Amino acid sequence: MDQSLQYVSGGAGVGGDRAGSRHARGGSDSTFGPKGRAVIASALDGKGARSDAGSIDDHSGTPSPALFREGRPAVLEVRDLEKTYGGGRSQATRALSGVSLSIAPGETVAIMGPSGSGKTTLLNCIATIDRPTAGSVWVDGLDVTRLPAKRLAEFRRSKLGFVFQESNLLDTLTCEENIALALTIERVRAAEIPSRVHGAAAALGVAEVLGRYPYQVSGGQAQRVACARAIVGDPSLVLADEPTGALDSRAAKLLLECLERLNAERGATICMVTHDSFAASYCQRVLFIRDGRLFAELRRGEQPRRRFFEKIMAQVAQIGGGEADVL
Ligand SMILES: Nc1ncnc2c1ncn2[C@@H]1O[C@H](COP(=O)(O)OP(=O)(O)O)[C@@H](O)[C@H]1O
Ligand SMILES: [Mg+2]
Repeated sequence: MDQSLQYVSGGAGVGGDRAGSRHARGGSDSTFGPKGRAVIASALDGKGARSDAGSIDDHSGTPSPALFREGRPAVLEVRDLEKTYGGGRSQATRALSGVSLSIAPGETVAIMGPSGSGKTTLLNCIATIDRPTAGSVWVDGLDVTRLPAKRLAEFRRSKLGFVFQESNLLDTLTCEENIALALTIERVRAAEIPSRVHGAAAALGVAEVLGRYPYQVSGGQAQRVACARAIVGDPSLVLADEPTGALDSRAAKLLLECLERLNAERGATICMVTHDSFAASYCQRVLFIRDGRLFAELRRGEQPRRRFFEKIMAQVAQIGGGEADVL
């Protein structure tokens, strides 16, 4: 079995890997999450893979060396997350059955799985768009599942950047104004805004379209403007739901290269849901979810992206039926 493939059983989770993230953001040394609780660490963590099913389970109950290496807390920690829809008189659907994972600063992580496996539910619970039935989500050491409703909007604005399948730009504003809006809402000083907008646009390769309206740019450019909007506030975590889903392959590649560069140069931490092995291959780590549980992870490590892509494809084929079944 492949050395970079890690199977996870039951409600076990997948831990952050610092090995692949060279460009970690700055972070405080403040206490991470609730003290003394089990932090699920990856068995891989620079010590070589073990490919037996359930090996990560063994780590529950021990503090994670990965999370505290370099004295930095994880950006995201998901613990024993459960989500059941319906119930009562209607039939209950268990969308998440005990998902645990962590993402370290500067990591890029893809979540892949078949249609209905719980990807969107997981992303929505992390984004505080949906409330989990049980478990917790910690972002920058803050348990967001316990935030009062009135603080949620502020939390999302200041800590998260969102990229969706559609760019969702406002057609009545120029691309520049669309990006700047995120900062205006955050009450960033007016004098600071132009340079930050231009910096974000340059990072995404869309500086030349800033003066245009969204309908005057290509789909790929619009999506990169949307990414610039997501990162201009320097969020702790960028959440992307099928960011390349509406793009042709060339535009998708450009966007993915930009995201990779954002990670390398600005230390952006990215968690993306995708059905596309090619998109996932640009991430440092890929988590596979099925029936509301994480069951495998692949790490890119030092291997070339193309080789990583082949391994993801092989894993997807093993899940069942090939790429078309994974959504
Ligand atoms: N609002 C909802 N009400 C009831 N069931 C839902 C709701 N959202 C998702 N589900 C169910 O939860 C499961 C996981 O859905 P989802 O997270 O959307 O999967 P994915 O994004 O992987 O396709 C599916 O069985 C889906 O039908
Ligand atoms: Mg979905």
